[in-house]
Formats: sequence, C-alpha cells, structure tokens
Amino acid sequence: MFKTGAPVTGKDFIDRKKHIPLFNTYLDQNQSFMIKAPRRFGKTSIIKHLSQENPNYKFVYIDIKRLSSLQSLANNIIDSAYKISTIDNFLYKAKNSMFDLVKSIQKIKIDDIAEITIRMYEKDTLDEMEYFLHSLDVMNTIAAKKNINIKFVLDEFQDILKIASSEILDKSRSVIQHHNNITYIFLGSIETIMTKIFERKASPFFHFATIVELPPLDVDELHTYSNNIFNKKNIKCDSLKHLLKYLNGHPDYSLQVLQKLYFTAIANNINELTEKIVYETLIEVILSNKAYLEELISKAKQKKHQLDVLYSIANNNKLELDSKSLYNVHSSLEDIGLIKRIKTGTYIINDMFLKIYLQQKDENIQLIDY
Ligand SMILES: Nc1ncnc2c1ncn2[C@@H]1O[C@H](COP(=O)(O)OP(=O)(O)OP(=O)(O)O)[C@@H](O)[C@H]1O
Ligand SMILES: [Mg+2]
Repeated sequence: MFKTGAPVTGKDFIDRKKHIPLFNTYLDQNQSFMIKAPRRFGKTSIIKHLSQENPNYKFVYIDIKRLSSLQSLANNIIDSAYKISTIDNFLYKAKNSMFDLVKSIQKIKIDDIAEITIRMYEKDTLDEMEYFLHSLDVMNTIAAKKNINIKFVLDEFQDILKIASSEILDKSRSVIQHHNNITYIFLGSIETIMTKIFERKASPFFHFATIVELPPLDVDELHTYSNNIFNKKNIKCDSLKHLLKYLNGHPDYSLQVLQKLYFTAIANNINELTEKIVYETLIEVILSNKAYLEELISKAKQKKHQLDVLYSIANNNKLELDSKSLYNVHSSLEDIGLIKRIKTGTYIINDMFLKIYLQQKDENIQLIDY
C-alpha cells in the first residue's frame, strides 16, 4: 500500500492498465522492445510486475548502471545464462573447481559453448568486446538447448556507452539479430541517448525493438486507487484530486506524498486530511528529497553554464548566452537527463521537484502554482 523506495509489484502496483496488455503481447510474440522514461517513472516496477505475472517465462534482469566494465557485464550475463542450465556461479567454479564444473557441463550437454567460455576466461589477455558478444551467444545457446525463449532485460541500457566504445552497438546488433531464443527488453532513462540508439536511421539498433515511451501514471486511475484506500480507513481528503493533478501522475513523487498523508492520518487518528495538511505534507515530501535534488544539481554543476540554464528554465527567465553555447548546454543537459525539449527552443525540467526547488528564493518552500 503506497510503497516507496523500491520497485513495486503485486498489490502495490497501480495503473498501467493500457500498457500491461501491450507488454504481455510483446512477450508472447517474442517481440523485443524498449521502454524509455525519465528517472523514477516506474520502469523497473513494470518489469518486476511482468515477470511476476508471467512465471512461465524465464526473465534475466541486469542493471548496466551498476557495472563498471564491459567485462563485468559479460560476467553477469554468463553467470545468469549458465544458472538457467542449473550451473550456479559458473565463473567462480571455472576458477576454483574445474573438475566439478566439467562434470556438470557434460551432464547438460553444453560442452562446446562452455568450453569456449572457459578458454576465453582463462586467457591472460581477454578481449572484452569478444567476450561480451560471446556472453550473449551463451544466453541464446542455453535458451535454444532448453527450448525456451528468455526475456532478457537490460536496465539503463544507454549506460553501455559508458563502459564500451560506440562500436559495441554495431557489433552486438549483428550478433543479437540471430538470437531466436531471446526477447530483448531495453530500459533507459536518458531519452536523448535512447533515441539516438534506437530511432536514428543510421544507428545499428534502428528498428530492432518496438519503442514505448512510458507516460506518467494516469491521474484518474491513481485517484480511484488512493481514494479507495482512504475510504476504507474512513479518511476524508477533499483536495486529493487537486493534489494528484498537481503531481501530474509522477509515479515516485505521487506515491511518496500519498504514503506520507496516509501514515499521518493513521498515526494521528486524523479522519479529515484538510487542504492545509495536504499542502504541508507536500512541502515536507519535497524537502525530504533534498539530498536527491542536490545530487541532480551537482551533476548540473559539472559543466559551465548548466546550472544557470536550469535556473532560467525553472524560472522562465531569459539568459544572456550566445546561441551556440546555449545549444550546447541544452544538449548536454538533455544527455544527463535533466531537461527535455518539447518544441524548438522550448525546454522543460524533467524532475518536477527539481523545478520547484530551483524556483525558491529562500529556505521556506513556496509552491507558486499549487
Ligand atoms: N505502477 C506503479 N504503481 C505504484 N507505484 C509505482 C508504480 N510505478 C512506480 N511507482 C513508484 O515509483 C517509484 C520508482 O519506481 P521504479 O523504481 O520502478 O522506477 P524507475 O523508472 O525504474 O526508477 P530509476 O530511474 O530510479 O531506476 C517506486 O518506488 C514506487 O513508489
Ligand atoms: Mg529502475
């Protein structure tokens, strides 16, 4: 109920009524797809939800953001793949108990591919790219051997360009197009880079995956869901709809505010959440995200003018900057996921709390458009 802080599933998973049947169809048809949405929009929750709803499918989930090299990505893929064939910790065993490993490999008859893995892994100088492509082949070979279709999720896929050169796209595309036993699911929160990878004609991934731009939660569905929960506890909240509209379906922030309201009412035996309580709760929640917002700001500070441009967007001010520099700053802010272009020359700040935060003159948060 109003869970925050981690991806949600089961009863806690709200809405997405339009999207879930669509994603289920892609899974059933083995159609690879890509989901792009800003940070904290519920991408990981969707995948966790889909995998719970479809226990008949084998899901493999890897978050590229957490990995610091192409080799560790490949290691993860290899270990996940062999695990499907019931060999846990393949690489650890390759290093420490080769005898047992060979026995297990022979039992499940994957000698040829496993031999290649071991040979590659044991080499003194490992070619990361070759090893990574091999890891994808291992996954497909194992799926084919088991006669299944693996649903392979690569979260924060755009970060692959941080751990490998851009030729990785070309190379992996030519390998994965032959993988009939894998449905690839790419998630990404940096929209510009995901667009470059999947929607530019010149990109090797062009047309490889069906693209879904995930919108915020549906405000009406969110209202019905939360209203029901409040009603069950006899909590009245007349301004709930107004609040949820203001939060514009932002999954993470809406849920944080709803949770705080709900807990406040229950802990203090309040049966009416007045407009004042709702407003104050909203401010408290914004402040409780301060550390995260400061983190976004320090990201912006890493390049000249970025923070000034953010301030000017948040406050609708014009900035004295020549058009070439402005163009460059906009592009780099888009590439770190902080802003989005909505039409020529017009940008918005992706994170609504960041926008509010940048609009403040002092410590006392004021919501100018609530
Ligand atoms: N369908 C949903 N139902 C209920 N809450 C949701 C839903 N989707 C997202 N949330 C809320 O938003 C939060 C963030 O969701 P999640 O971690 O899935 O997003 P994400 O897009 O993967 O985020 P990140 O960019 O940080 O990886 C969750 O902790 C939950 O509170
Ligand atoms: Mg996520």
